[in-house]
Amino acid sequence: MLYLVGLGLSYKSDITVRGLEAVKQCSRVYLEHYTSILMAASKEELEQYYGKEVILADRELVESGSDDILRDADKEDVAFLVVGDPFGATTHTDLVLRAKRQSIPVEIVHNASVMNAVGSCGLQLYNFGQTISMVFFTDNWRPDSWYDKVLENRKIGLHTLVLLDIKVKEQSIENMARGRLIYEPPRYMSISQCCEQLLEIEETRRSKAYTPDTPAVAISRLGSSTQTFKSGSIKELAEYDSGEPLHSLVILGRQCHELELEYLLEFADDRDKFRNDVVADQEFFKPAPWVPPQEDDD
Ligand SMILES: C[S@@+](CC[C@H](N)C(=O)[O-])C[C@H]1O[C@@H](n2cnc3c(N)ncnc32)[C@H](O)[C@@H]1O
Repeated sequence: MLYLVGLGLSYKSDITVRGLEAVKQCSRVYLEHYTSILMAASKEELEQYYGKEVILADRELVESGSDDILRDADKEDVAFLVVGDPFGATTHTDLVLRAKRQSIPVEIVHNASVMNAVGSCGLQLYNFGQTISMVFFTDNWRPDSWYDKVLENRKIGLHTLVLLDIKVKEQSIENMARGRLIYEPPRYMSISQCCEQLLEIEETRRSKAYTPDTPAVAISRLGSSTQTFKSGSIKELAEYDSGEPLHSLVILGRQCHELELEYLLEFADDRDKFRNDVVADQEFFKPAPWVPPQEDDD
């Protein structure tokens, strides 16, 4: 059996009872180690908690070496651990499909994900549109395809969850070109860098998907003891020191409900200004007033 087990958001004990029981009976345990990190537990702490060796699975192992992970999984139990939920944001459907092709039974053990825990900032999950990922810009690679999704969400009044890039084990282009297996230190995008990139792309695209005054909420270390929220305009959050990773951002949609606003005001430095920004933002993409059809005179 291949078990895909969600670890939840922060603590080693966030694993579910069913997940822990599955891990304990597995002969090999892999921890997916490139799309997210477990903030409050190291590999060694997990090993002690499970009483098992934990093998870190980087992108290369999961995408090119999945045969290693699936080896003998038709005869023995193998666990593939994913921080958050195995199908939250990054879906590990490819690994599941490969297992199925090899007639390996698969069981999924779900857990909390950033995709639902984000609701603890006070915004209604029902009011979210498409999620986007913000990658680190480089000198010659500044992708902006996510901009159209923000525009679509904002046109119909929905909030946009922005997931921020992390680079846990990446090679520099030079080392990759020379085939040297030397990895850069881990990097995690901050809220301010994400907001700066948002503002840069608005400057070039100019469709007013958002403006520097558009309200947003920064979400840091969700589910950990240092979880923090900060409400402000994108321009203000471009100056915000968000501290240790992990971080996500929500760009508010026009249809911000009064109760959502009340919750977000708790996290604003200047509550009156934030309220004014939200009210002003509601004018964006407002549908034209409904005009009743003309009575037919004949
Ligand atoms: C590619 S997603 C993987 C999501 C994960 N599988 C889950 O279900 O939560 C990773 C990104 O989600 C966001 N994220 C994940 N956990 C977070 C947390 N606890 N607090 C804030 N943002 C988080 C960060 O932007 C991070 O770079």
